[in-house]
Amino acid sequence: MINIPKDENGKLFIMLGGETHNSACTSREYMKNVWDKAEALHCNTVLAPVYWELLEQKEGVYEFTMVEELIEDARLHGMKLVLLWFGAWKNGCSTYVPGWVKQNQLRFPRVLDENKKPLKILSMFDSEIGAVEKKTFCKFMSFLKAFDLESHTVLAVQVENEIGVLDAAMDYSLGAKRAYRDEPEEVFMATHYAKYLNRLAKAGKAIYDLPMYTNVWLREESTEKPGTFPSGGPIPEVIDVWKKHAPCIDFIAPDIYTFKFDKVAEAYTRPDNPLFIPETRRDKWAVANLYKAIGKYQAICFSPFGLESIGEDKSFITQKLHTNASDKNVSSKMIQDYLADSYQMLSNMMPMITSYYGTQYMTGFCQDEGQMTSHIILGDYRIRIEYYHGIDDNNEFIPGAGMAFLGAQGENSGFELIFIGYGYRAYVEPLNNLERIDFLTLEKGYFTEEAQWIQTMYLNGDEQHIQMEEIPTAVRASFYKY
Ligand code: DGJ
Repeated sequence: MINIPKDENGKLFIMLGGETHNSACTSREYMKNVWDKAEALHCNTVLAPVYWELLEQKEGVYEFTMVEELIEDARLHGMKLVLLWFGAWKNGCSTYVPGWVKQNQLRFPRVLDENKKPLKILSMFDSEIGAVEKKTFCKFMSFLKAFDLESHTVLAVQVENEIGVLDAAMDYSLGAKRAYRDEPEEVFMATHYAKYLNRLAKAGKAIYDLPMYTNVWLREESTEKPGTFPSGGPIPEVIDVWKKHAPCIDFIAPDIYTFKFDKVAEAYTRPDNPLFIPETRRDKWAVANLYKAIGKYQAICFSPFGLESIGEDKSFITQKLHTNASDKNVSSKMIQDYLADSYQMLSNMMPMITSYYGTQYMTGFCQDEGQMTSHIILGDYRIRIEYYHGIDDNNEFIPGAGMAFLGAQGENSGFELIFIGYGYRAYVEPLNNLERIDFLTLEKGYFTEEAQWIQTMYLNGDEQHIQMEEIPTAVRASFYKY
């Protein structure tokens, strides 16, 4: 059974989050930037790494103070945490293993490429790494249980980060070759990485049963060969291999930096895999894709990468300016404001949103580059969305986006639609061409922190349109049939 993140009352918890820069959590002082930004953005969760190399600098000697401080600070700021276990593999490589692992190549041999050249990647074969990492990971889970079971600040653990072999299609070491059966190299690596992670997750869960997942470095183009992206990582082509061999990994979570958002979201939204986006762009597309992720794909986590840099035009750690407008790391104050308003609105609506999860009566949409219209179907209705502005790299507009919720049928087959978002008009018509509908009431308003709808204006006459503002807003319409 899939274990999904729940709050302390056992209720589904949808994460409106952000992931810190990789090195952020090594400095409590630096982390103040993260907490400030997370609060300004109205995040409910921060995704933050923990580093094996710092937790066990000497073999068998464990030091969890850094994690304790991270959890304490999250509590102080009213945030939940997802901890990212930077263990044996991070972005394919083994840069986060302790020095005593890096330097002992007898106990911990390397992946060899086709020319027998050792890579910066630990091999799983003929190695002590599996046993050693399992022991440390179990210590970590025991620490979490002792320190956090009651307050339940940590809601999930990511096991490793973007696993897979880079710069070779597979591990060509002797140990790997012995294990190799005649199969595509990528499938061989996927099978063994999946089994490895399954053993880690299984042992960790036996101590403290938190949801566990692993994230994915995607293949951007179908022409890319395994090794140019991490070979064996759980990309859509081998996700079933992973599902088969890693049942203790609750879900597989794509890092979505590509513009093919729908293609990726569709591949990772399955009955056995809820969509969890641990990393995504922090540019203007982050705002737009948020509405689609939650509304259309019922995602359980949305989290732009480099949380503390959202709203900044520079790298927070190096202070280097981003000058290329199409850089995924470019952000701006406007993006920050849109995201903050959107997270606030979604948080306020959360009881309603979670009640729509698992139903077909909620959807989300957003504008692509060059697109001015979207068509969606919700229940028995067809909705045409017309966006206000064209989007390209050279203009300042945030792509239009929104969500729609279809309410229960009222008297005389009436129904209600709530629209949220910005930058569009919506036109609703019945799928059944013989039916006619019209507005009964049309209200502009907002949801309070207690999830109550407050109407601020009745719209009729010239304003009788589902017409959103340029900034995140909400409109509630009831219809009757005639
Ligand atoms: C993907 C990795 O998973 C992250 O840890 C980070 O390195 C980002 N890439 C940087 O864009």
